[in-house]
Amino acid sequence: MDKIWREGFTKDEMFELLLSRVGIGQTGLVMAEPDGNSVRKAPIPWHSDNYQVFELKQLRREIEIYHALPSEHPRLVRLLSYTDDGQRDVSLILERMPQGRLDEYLVGGCNHTKPSEEQLARGRAIPLRQRCSWALEMADGLAMLHAHEVVHGDFKPENMVLDSRFRLRLIDFSGSSLRGSPALTLESAPYYMPRTADARIVGDMGCSVTTDLFALGSSLFHVEVGFAPWHPLRHRDVEERYERGEFPDLQTAGLDGAALPLTRSRR
Ligand SMILES: Nc1ncnc2c1ncn2[C@@H]1O[C@H](COP(=O)(O)OP(=O)(O)O)[C@@H](O)[C@H]1O
Ligand SMILES: [Mg+2]
Repeated sequence: MDKIWREGFTKDEMFELLLSRVGIGQTGLVMAEPDGNSVRKAPIPWHSDNYQVFELKQLRREIEIYHALPSEHPRLVRLLSYTDDGQRDVSLILERMPQGRLDEYLVGGCNHTKPSEEQLARGRAIPLRQRCSWALEMADGLAMLHAHEVVHGDFKPENMVLDSRFRLRLIDFSGSSLRGSPALTLESAPYYMPRTADARIVGDMGCSVTTDLFALGSSLFHVEVGFAPWHPLRHRDVEERYERGEFPDLQTAGLDGAALPLTRSRR
């Protein structure tokens, strides 16, 4: 690994890295550390130099956020250590969460866009009680962030991982805002609250407690249904619907056209 960060890599090495990764997003390649209990999040080595400069900024932001949050909170993974040589060597060593991402778990462990029938069935079989626990844990985690003046900015089940007891932990603060600093990221379409033109000024993504709460709403929907709102529409189409104020009907959005379980009236 060290060689790759320092000296570049071949195509074969890139495939090898992708095959052995724990995860990858917009900001970081997440690789298992040799101890098996931790992961290293570092810039994606094949991104252009310019883009890597932005990734380094985001990783530094993430380190700053971890330092501003409680180090042993049940809704967070622990930052075990980090590197920053003031130049290009910036990485975070994080506690590894063994059960992977929530969005993948909701579709039977599928880590690409088309779950098999078997994976879908496994996802559907997740008990309502478990979904309710995750719903509460998301809200609890977000309240904790806001209490520490952190706006997540990219709140979604893809940025939530499960620990050995299937408890939910929030991750990915690489674009988050701290004490009013401009966020360095935006939510993806199903979690993105349409902004006014003023809120979209260059250099500020317009992320706020309110936009995080919108993203929480979409995430609650996702955890109940197994998919994000308006799945499988393209992101552009989702944006247009939100702009028009069109949201899925909660009375029919559940499995097989049923009402979402948490919206059903109790007798
Ligand atoms: N502590 C962790 N334990 C297990 N998997 C993780 C952990 N941190 C990140 N991942 C995996 O790596 C992916 C990318 O990490 P993330 O922090 O979201 O980076 P990005 O900012 O690039 O989206 C996650 O979606 C998840 O699959
Ligand atoms: Mg992410």
